[in-house]
Amino acid sequence: MIITIDGPAGAGKGTISAFVAKRYKLAYFDTGMVYRAVGLQMVLSGKDLSDVAAATEIAKNLTFPQMMELSAHKDFRSDVGSHAASVVSSYPDVRAALLKMQQDFALNPVFADGSAANGVVYDGRDTGTVICPQADLKFYIVAPVEVRAKRRCADLLKAGVDTNYETVLNEMKARDERDMNRASAPLTKPIGAVEFDTSLHDTAQNLADIAAIINKKFGL
Ligand code: DC
Repeated sequence: MIITIDGPAGAGKGTISAFVAKRYKLAYFDTGMVYRAVGLQMVLSGKDLSDVAAATEIAKNLTFPQMMELSAHKDFRSDVGSHAASVVSSYPDVRAALLKMQQDFALNPVFADGSAANGVVYDGRDTGTVICPQADLKFYIVAPVEVRAKRRCADLLKAGVDTNYETVLNEMKARDERDMNRASAPLTKPIGAVEFDTSLHDTAQNLADIAAIINKKFGL
């Protein structure tokens, strides 16, 4: 069973992917991690983020264990890491270099402890369009940008980050613009994907609805 979950930042992909992976005992590949790993490695090695050749070289040599090691770094999910990931993810050569590693995961999916899984849930921006267009079921998770910014702002304030709604909204709009208009693999609804708006109901109802769609699709 291969399920892809794509959509813009803050739409709820992470929550849904984690739920789907747990409920259906699937391995989980958060594909944003590959760009975060390359971006952070650029920062740590003192490279200028505009150095496409350096980013491509790092991407070509990135291994799964190295990515997991980098994911423990304090800046992996900080603003520094997010910005670096966003910049390197716009380079077509970087995306091409990271394609095989992401696709290979479905051939031999494993849980975090290394044990084998029967399938995978991919979470990202291009998993149903580029990484795994042959997936059994594809979701495109959406929500209005104002709702996504409100959620993100609440998370940041809870984490003690000094910010406000207007700032987060503007950042989110800029991020949407980059994700949807980049030259290579722009964020778009995959062909055949189920579009799901998470702003219409609460999380519990959304997860129940997602499970119902999966159960129907696979006759569970
Ligand atoms: O989902 P995230 O915030 O961890 O993603 C980090 C960055 O990587 C973000 O700028 C979008 C980009 N990304 C991408 O271009 N393609 C993917 N499949 C996943 C993430």
